[in-house]
Amino acid sequence: MVTLAPAAVGLARSGRFVRVELGEWRSLPDRTKYRSVFVARVNGAWVGYANVCRHHPVELDVPDLSVDVKTGVRLALVGQDGQSLMCASHGAIYRARDGYCTTGPCSGTSLARVPVLESMDASGEAVVTVGDDGGADLV
Ligand code: FES
Repeated sequence: MVTLAPAAVGLARSGRFVRVELGEWRSLPDRTKYRSVFVARVNGAWVGYANVCRHHPVELDVPDLSVDVKTGVRLALVGQDGQSLMCASHGAIYRARDGYCTTGPCSGTSLARVPVLESMDASGEAVVTVGDDGGADLV
């Protein structure tokens, strides 16, 4: 599991998709590899997606294109609604709440979900972790 930094938790709680580095390559059931995820709280629920486009197996974002200037946290590129995720390569748009691709060359597919868990540490601070079991969402 990977724990989000407090600055990233704040942004993600506000609905921004923050990039989380996993520190290792992981595989989806179809053997597509990924090494980072995007996590946000959307409509009151935490969602996480493997950072790999469903058109071609490349990351959705590119370095330095979307970074929160206050915190330096890397963010997902977003569509015109300010919330959906956008792939930098060919502009595919994925719905925030479920990762469904509504526009672009991979319309009708969905980003792969990654489990996200929110808990409290001993001091009462929120701790958000990204799971690694490839199963259903934990929250
Ligand atoms: S690789 Fe993402 S839209 Fe083509």
